[in-house]
Amino acid sequence: METDRLLRELSNFLRIPSVSTLPEHNADCRAAADWVAAELRRLDCRDVQFLGSEMHPVVWGVGPDVPGAPTLLIYGHYDVQPPDPLGEWTSPPFEPTVRRGRLYARGAADDKGQVFCLLKAIEACGRPPVNLRFLIEGEEEYGSTVLFEVLEREPERTRADVVLVADMSYVAPGWPAVYTTLRGMCYAEITVRTAKSDLHSGEYGGAAPNAHEELCRLLARLKTPDGRIHIPGLYDTVKPPSRAERATWKRLPFKEKEFLKERVQAKALTGMKKYSVLERLWALPTFEIHGITGGFTGDGAKTVIPAEATAKVSLRLVPAQTLKTVQRQLAGAVKRLAPNYADATVRFLHGADPAEIEVTHPSYQLLDRAFKAVVGRGTVAARAGGSIPVVPALGKSGAPVILTGIGLPDDRLHAPDEKLDLTQLWDGIRVFRRFYELLGHKGA
Ligand code: BES
Ligand code: MN
Ligand code: MN
Repeated sequence: METDRLLRELSNFLRIPSVSTLPEHNADCRAAADWVAAELRRLDCRDVQFLGSEMHPVVWGVGPDVPGAPTLLIYGHYDVQPPDPLGEWTSPPFEPTVRRGRLYARGAADDKGQVFCLLKAIEACGRPPVNLRFLIEGEEEYGSTVLFEVLEREPERTRADVVLVADMSYVAPGWPAVYTTLRGMCYAEITVRTAKSDLHSGEYGGAAPNAHEELCRLLARLKTPDGRIHIPGLYDTVKPPSRAERATWKRLPFKEKEFLKERVQAKALTGMKKYSVLERLWALPTFEIHGITGGFTGDGAKTVIPAEATAKVSLRLVPAQTLKTVQRQLAGAVKRLAPNYADATVRFLHGADPAEIEVTHPSYQLLDRAFKAVVGRGTVAARAGGSIPVVPALGKSGAPVILTGIGLPDDRLHAPDEKLDLTQLWDGIRVFRRFYELLGHKGA
C-alpha cells in the first residue's frame, strides 16, 4: 500500500542518527544530507548541491521550471537533538516504531517527519505548479552556523515569492496554526573557577572556596523565586502582546490545568504568576539551566572541593530584544554576581534574534484554505516558544515567511518518546499538496 511505502521511506530517514551537536555523528549527518539530496533528485530537481560544509551541509535544490508561476522556497532541517536519556525511550530513538497510530523516533516531528511531508506533497502533485527551491540544513539544532555563513555569502539563495517553514505544531489537535513570532536564543556556558586545582575536602573544607557552591549561588541569583530574571535591563525592550492578541489567545483551546497535568506532568507550574501561561511561554524571555558539570559526578563517593564548575544555560528572547544586547547583559550580570575571589567567565555557544512576522500577505490565506479543505479548520495565529535561528535571514529578501507545522503539542520534541501521529502525517501531505496547488494557480 502507498502508506506502507511512505512509512518505510520515512523510517529510513529517521533511522539515521543525525545529531548535529555531537561530533561522533558527523558521518550520520552527512548520510541524512545524502538522503535528502536523493529525494530532491527523485523530484527532478536540478542543481542539487551541498553548501557550506562537508559535515553538516545545507542541501540546496531547484525544482523543474514552471514559467510564470511563483517561486516557493522550502526550508527544513535534517539534524536532530541528542536522544539521551536513552533508558527513558519505550523503543530505541533510532528504531522508528509505530504504536497506536503514532510513529516514535527522534526527529519524527522535529523536523524529519515534516520535511518528509513537504517532499511527499510535491510527489503527490505529480508536476507541482510552482517553482521550487530548497534549503534543508543540518545544523538547526546547533544554531545554524553553516546556513548563516552560506546566506551571508549568497543572499540570493533566499530569493523567492514565498518561504515555507514547517517545523512546528498545531496549537491543539484539530487546530492548525500559523506563527507570528519565534523566540530568539542566547546559549552560553558559565564557568566559575575558585582555585588552582581541586582540594581534599577534609584538609581544606571550611576554609577554601568551592566552585560549585559559588556557581549555584550565582545561578540562583539570576532568577528570583517568582520567576523574574534578575538581569538589569533585560525586560526593557520586551514588547507586551496587544489587547487583540491577548483576546485571540483567550479563545484558543488551551487550559492551564490540562497543560500542567497532561503536558508538563509536574506538580505545579512556575514562573511569573501575574502573566498568563501563554504569555509566559510566548511573549516573555526565559532563563534555563540545561546542565551543570565539574567536580565529581561518577559512581560512588569522592571527597573533593572542585576548583571549577560549568553550567550550560540559555535565555530565550522575545521581540524586540536583540541577541547582542542580551549577551552583553548576561555577561555583565555574571561579572557582578560573582564574588571577587572567584573567576566567572561566559562563553557564548550560539544564538539567534527573535523573529516577528506579519501574516497579512495573501499566501497566508492560501495556507488557511489548504488546512480548511483538508482538516476542516483554518489556521489560527499563534506565537511560538521555540526558536529557528535562521528565520529572520530567510525573510531578508522581503518574501513572506510562513511558519507552520503538522505536529501536535504533545509530540515531546527534544525529549524521550518523540512521536508523530500518522493522521497528522497523512493530513500534512494533503495540506501541503493543496497549498502548492493553490499557490501555483492563484499566484503569490
Ligand atoms: N522546531 C524547533 C523550534 C520550535 C519548537 C518552534 C517548538 C516552535 C515550537 C527547532 O528545531 C528547535 O528546537 N530549535 C532550537 C533552536 C536552538 C538550538 C537555537 C530551540 O528552539 O531550542
Ligand atoms: Mn525543528
Ligand atoms: Mn528542535
